[in-house]
Amino acid sequence: MQTRILKVSSKNPSLSQIRKAARIIKSGGLVAFPTETVYGLGANALDSKSVRKIFEAKGRPSDNPLIIHISDIAELGILAENIPSTAFDLIEKFWPGPLTLVLKKSKIVPKIVTGGLDSVAVRMPKNKVALELIRLCGTPIAAPSANIAGRPSPTRAEHVSEDLNGKISMILDGGPTKIGIESTVIDLSSKTPMLLRPGGITIEQLQKILGKISIHPIVFGKKTKTIIRSPGMKYRHYSPKAKIILIEGSKPKIRKKISELSKYYKSQGLRVGILGANIGSDLTKSQASQQKIAASLFKSFREFDAKKIDIILAQGTSNKGLGLGIMNRLGKAAYKKIRV
Ligand code: TXA
Ligand code: MG
Repeated sequence: MQTRILKVSSKNPSLSQIRKAARIIKSGGLVAFPTETVYGLGANALDSKSVRKIFEAKGRPSDNPLIIHISDIAELGILAENIPSTAFDLIEKFWPGPLTLVLKKSKIVPKIVTGGLDSVAVRMPKNKVALELIRLCGTPIAAPSANIAGRPSPTRAEHVSEDLNGKISMILDGGPTKIGIESTVIDLSSKTPMLLRPGGITIEQLQKILGKISIHPIVFGKKTKTIIRSPGMKYRHYSPKAKIILIEGSKPKIRKKISELSKYYKSQGLRVGILGANIGSDLTKSQASQQKIAASLFKSFREFDAKKIDIILAQGTSNKGLGLGIMNRLGKAAYKKIRV
């Protein structure tokens, strides 16, 4: 299959380009498109045959459910049932935006989308290309991140092409994505809201509206016997080919450890990369904001692979704000964690 790559501005998109993509999705094909978080790999969410192609192209295990993307709140009522009022409070505040709600599914949602669960994950992305694409398709779009399963999520069209060229019909290239890590996933399908995946909307922002939120232990990388409410979380994710060693603790101690380990591995003839607040350079220099770290995290993983780095020494950050999402991704990608 030939993969067509069409450039389209995320600020001021050309409808004629997006119409071509919509035609593909309406006829059962796959299109990768930009969102504000990462690129998604989209298919008609209401058609099992189309959705199956997503799992095949990505090599995704069939028990890992997909998020359905909508462009209009009216579509939510078609996909979900017994929607609690808290969902609407969140929607008012955070949609369109990087927040995915897990709700009780309606009958119209094919089983393949939810991996057999009786819940469905829905979000409205904050990107004009994504919203126009969904609108022009006239159907909700199921879309996981547009990478091969287990690889870092794509934050640029080139990353999608690296992983999926020849396997999908089209990539809409809307430039780099803004946020860089995926949406926050919150489960509202049972009594206490539960954070299943930290992401673009912080838990502090959610607590302001919801009050008490429980956090699934797997968010911190803990093994758990509780029912896995989000099957996707059990898979190793986001991994570059290099081995990541995540170092947590106080900044001066982390710095010391990184320099020790770097010398040691280099003496073993290995290629070492350093992932810090100021990525790849001197950690003592200016601390980039968490937003910047998130925006470049997955891109750095891929760049280290391109440079054939063997070991990545990653500096841990705080679990506050966007940090929780960053640490969750680093933790999942890590081969080893060290506390100093
Ligand atoms: O930012 C994002 O969310 C991106 C863009 C493309 O929208 N999408 C994304 O999709 O990250 P994906 O498939 O890579 O991650 C979806 C996550 C998985 O952890 C999956 O287990 C969870 O959402 N999920 C989907 N449906 C669920 C459900 N019914 N119950 C619990 N978790 C669910
Ligand atoms: Mg993914």
